[in-house]
Amino acid sequence: MIIRSDLPFYICLYFSQNSYLNLNAIMSFQKKLLEWYKENCRPFPWRKNIKPYNVWLSEIILQQTRAAQGLPYYKSFISNFPTIEHLAAAKEDQIMRLWQGLGYYSRARNLHATAKTITHDYYGRFPDDFNQIKSLKGIGDYTASAIVSICFGQEQAVVDGNVYRVLSRIFGMDQPIDVSGAHKIYKQKAQNLMKGAAPGDFNQAIMEFGALQCTPKKPICQDCIFKNQCIAFQKAKVSFLPVKAKKVKVKSRYLHFFVLIDKHKNTLLQKREGNGIWQNLYQFPLIETFTKQKQFQKFQLESLLADLQITSDFVINKWNHEPVLQKLTHQNLEINFWIVNLAESTNLEIKSSQTHHYPMPKALQNFRDKFFIN
Ligand code: ADE
Repeated sequence: MIIRSDLPFYICLYFSQNSYLNLNAIMSFQKKLLEWYKENCRPFPWRKNIKPYNVWLSEIILQQTRAAQGLPYYKSFISNFPTIEHLAAAKEDQIMRLWQGLGYYSRARNLHATAKTITHDYYGRFPDDFNQIKSLKGIGDYTASAIVSICFGQEQAVVDGNVYRVLSRIFGMDQPIDVSGAHKIYKQKAQNLMKGAAPGDFNQAIMEFGALQCTPKKPICQDCIFKNQCIAFQKAKVSFLPVKAKKVKVKSRYLHFFVLIDKHKNTLLQKREGNGIWQNLYQFPLIETFTKQKQFQKFQLESLLADLQITSDFVINKWNHEPVLQKLTHQNLEINFWIVNLAESTNLEIKSSQTHHYPMPKALQNFRDKFFIN
């Protein structure tokens, strides 16, 4: 902060962005926001029972989904692993099963790794130092800020998608949010706005405001506490803010899963390896094609079975008429399921009725629930 000699300190704070934000304006922003929060805050369990473990867990889940959708996941994690020691001692497969459907599975693996670190290196107590927290696996500036502000009352502003949106609209900030340097600018802005307020409430209030009022589509501008000062609203730019510089390149992928069923109704699941999507989750044997493929030649299937050391005759039927579509951030998946009934008994070991014990990607889980349960 640079203090200008021609203006008294208490009237004017000069920010690195060359914008003046009057102290009264800051206080009025905080007051309006916090009053709004008091009226509108949703009574989530992580807000009632404030502990670093609960806040950390909720924030990691909420990076994957909206709060209402994240709530059942949070509840099932807390009931299965009431403390960080329980989470540390869990089997990875169990964690992946509970995480199923949230996507971005490395977050679940990092959750497990950090639970172990805190249990073994910190005697089960979350550190309260911002940089120490930030050095833990899967915890970046956002999560560390949420934890220290909500649990330890430290002035660290969170910057997530909600905060980018609220700040860019109210203050007419048109710096793109997806370029290097953006985070610093928006964090600085939020940091200045939070000065003197209760940090945990301020952070949760601005995120809640973004989630409920200043939403990405159809924000409730006509009935907004900031209507008279929101630059985006005043200048009819709400739908253009926040600005993104990059166009996301989306790749199409064609995935064909072969559901082998032998005479004993046993099947085969394989654990995915590598760094791609769905790492460490289970799937049916997969062939990926470069284009849409409506049929497979017999020899392609024979070759797949030979790799699996299966020599039985088989009958193959497609399960879905239209591909199952799944959109990820950078990939559009077209998924097909082929049912391969094997004429003989084989070395397959997983009973069809037991497949629900294996963590799977959402699309496969949906298939499994329909196909094996019926
Ligand atoms: N989104 C992510 N974390 C949140 C929180 N603590 N409050 C409101 N919205 C959120």
